[in-house]
Amino acid sequence: MANRMWGGRFGGGPGAIMEEINASIDFDKALWRQDIAGSKAHAAMLAKQGIITAKDARTIAGGLDKVAGEIEAGDFKFSRTLEDIHMNVESRLAELIGPAAGRLHTARSRNDQVALDMKLWVRETIDVLDGSLADLQRTLAEKALAEAATVMPGFTHLQSAQPVTFGHHLLAYVEMFGRDRGRFADARQRLNESPLGAAALAGTSFPIDREMTAKALGFDRPTANSLDSVADRDFILEALAAASICAVHLSRLAEEIVLWTSAQFGFVRLSDAFSTGSSIMPQKRNPDAAELVRGKAGRIIGALTAMLVILKGLPMAYGKDMQEDKEGTFDALSSLSLCVAATSGMVRDMRPDAERMKRAAGAGHATATDLADWLVRKLGLPFREAHHITGRIVSLADKKGVSLDALPLAEMRSVEPRISADLFSVLSVERSVESRKSRGGTAPGEVRKQARGWLKRLGKGAPR
Ligand code: ARG
Repeated sequence: MANRMWGGRFGGGPGAIMEEINASIDFDKALWRQDIAGSKAHAAMLAKQGIITAKDARTIAGGLDKVAGEIEAGDFKFSRTLEDIHMNVESRLAELIGPAAGRLHTARSRNDQVALDMKLWVRETIDVLDGSLADLQRTLAEKALAEAATVMPGFTHLQSAQPVTFGHHLLAYVEMFGRDRGRFADARQRLNESPLGAAALAGTSFPIDREMTAKALGFDRPTANSLDSVADRDFILEALAAASICAVHLSRLAEEIVLWTSAQFGFVRLSDAFSTGSSIMPQKRNPDAAELVRGKAGRIIGALTAMLVILKGLPMAYGKDMQEDKEGTFDALSSLSLCVAATSGMVRDMRPDAERMKRAAGAGHATATDLADWLVRKLGLPFREAHHITGRIVSLADKKGVSLDALPLAEMRSVEPRISADLFSVLSVERSVESRKSRGGTAPGEVRKQARGWLKRLGKGAPR
């Protein structure tokens, strides 16, 4: 049977494989709300411009509400023969209201319709994500405030570098997620122009009012060029790029949680709520949620790559290739939401082992830089020379198998005779972090200030 929507010049229906490759309804039914909202705005505009009658517009709006009700209730029969969400909705509308339904598609094409639906979906998803990222930031900042003075090793090259505080470490992620929110906000701002009214690609001969539909759907203005309107998927690329960067941040934190919860680090414990056991090794507590957050970064980055490749060879304007934008986008952005929620959950759940962290913080002569700084401050040595002397003291401590603060004064003086007992006051990990009061530094006072600043900016948020 020829397609009801465009079967005029077709004698028969598509072959089975054609239907299989062509139909998008299995996944684009996710756009039903957006599709119906767009159609209602379009019908109201057509009536206001005298392109259809007010009566038809009312009938169409009532019918669309009915369709929405059916989909909401799970009573809607989606059909693959009708290809996609746009034709499924319109076809049902025709069954419900008769011939008036046929007027809805005046001055419109599925090309501007689908661009609109995707923009609305991405915009809404960005708004929801912004809220959950703010929640994650709040969770991290609260934890940071509580752990502002908890000393842990700071690493470079995953080698003990200098002691830092756990709060300071967590605040690093608050910054990252803040930039992620900024990137999503930028994408949203550029996205917020309505493609509706571009029709198939060239615009329309009907006297439509694109300002009206743009405003009704919450856009800042209509898009400027009708070809670009139906061909543009930049907004998806930008959202997926922002999502990929955010996924990378989440994955780095997840990787740290995996390390921290290992028996070797033992810095952090996740409760049973965020751990799983092993079916063979009774001692295991696996951080599966963190591993999955780390793993899901793969599919999110994959969706961005796929989208870039889908678009790179497409001539103006619409090409059916663009239908491939959906599954990756839906999957990537919902995976990201899930990862953000799981990360908030883990951060709230995790309990640091302060004793163990502190012990690890002192390992590997982590306060050697403090020793060198003391030589500069107290003896007026150039830092390079102080670095050299400290190196020799570290090597001496290594030879004796003791930590820096356990090396007798006499031994230190054998390297630099002007060293006094006062030096020992800077060798503890607490004093080390305490002294790093420079702006953005790891001193507990500075960490508290930063955490409070964030909490103030983030506000209360939704109650959980
Ligand atoms: N399902 C299609 C898509 O997602 C809708 C647009 C179809 N346009 C067309 N000219 N066949 O891209």
